[in-house]
Amino acid sequence: MNRGQLLYEGKAKSVYLSDTPDELIVAFRDDITAFDGQKKDSLAGKGGYNARISAFFFTYLEEKGIPTHFMGMIDDHTMAVKRLNMIPLEVIVRNRAAGSIVRRYPFREGQTFDTPLIVMDYKDDSRHDPMINDDIIIALGLLSRDEIQHVRDLALAVNRHLKELFRARGLDLVDFKIEFGRFGDTILLGDEISMDSMRLWDVKTGASLDKDVYRYDKGDVLSAYAKVVDMMIPKEFGGVQ
Ligand SMILES: Nc1ncnc2c1ncn2[C@@H]1O[C@H](COP(=O)(O)OP(=O)(O)O)[C@@H](O)[C@H]1O
Ligand SMILES: [Mg+2]
Repeated sequence: MNRGQLLYEGKAKSVYLSDTPDELIVAFRDDITAFDGQKKDSLAGKGGYNARISAFFFTYLEEKGIPTHFMGMIDDHTMAVKRLNMIPLEVIVRNRAAGSIVRRYPFREGQTFDTPLIVMDYKDDSRHDPMINDDIIIALGLLSRDEIQHVRDLALAVNRHLKELFRARGLDLVDFKIEFGRFGDTILLGDEISMDSMRLWDVKTGASLDKDVYRYDKGDVLSAYAKVVDMMIPKEFGGVQ
């Protein structure tokens, strides 16, 4: 598959056209950012870790019946995906309280939610991704009420499957963010599922193995990402076409 014109350059990935109109090429760059892009660095190898783990999770979730945009790896930091009409929502699933929810509401850091919480933010950096609710989503014409329910169901299913997978490797999935998009009449899971978009705690030590290591200068973020890739991806998972 040939890489065409650059369509969009985001904070961590570059999206290119391909030779097929309904397929795109997503290159995971080594850039890492936090706090709405205020903190920025480039860490050699980071893009590859996130691309490989995303490919692995998309493949695993497809096996579990969750439709995703993932088509295959082109090289170890680039994937081919179906071109989606992205829904500008960050769908966040929280199993424990951490990060912004602790700053905004009187939850205790690390407290477990009996039922996972779904929080949706309107994806717009210039507005600092404000939290949104069902009525606003409908008024903005982003999703119908039934589609909101469908997206919630998909997000909870993703959570169940990922949580189980991590738990078996001694990792606790605290929270994660996913994005969806439309492909014709269907809503597919898009974007990425990586250490940039989740919180993962080591069950035994409580250590963070995700972007919090970078956000809060908790140590070497590249070794944290490498460790997750090593723990999660079986040797026989190739990914590259
Ligand atoms: N399958 C897809 N089709 C079209 N756009 C996508 C697809 N998957 C992800 N995207 C979009 O491509 C961009 C990926 O780059 P990223 O660096 O994550 O950007 P951002 O800074 O906007 O989060 C995101 O805006 C994401 O919504
Ligand atoms: Mg992004």
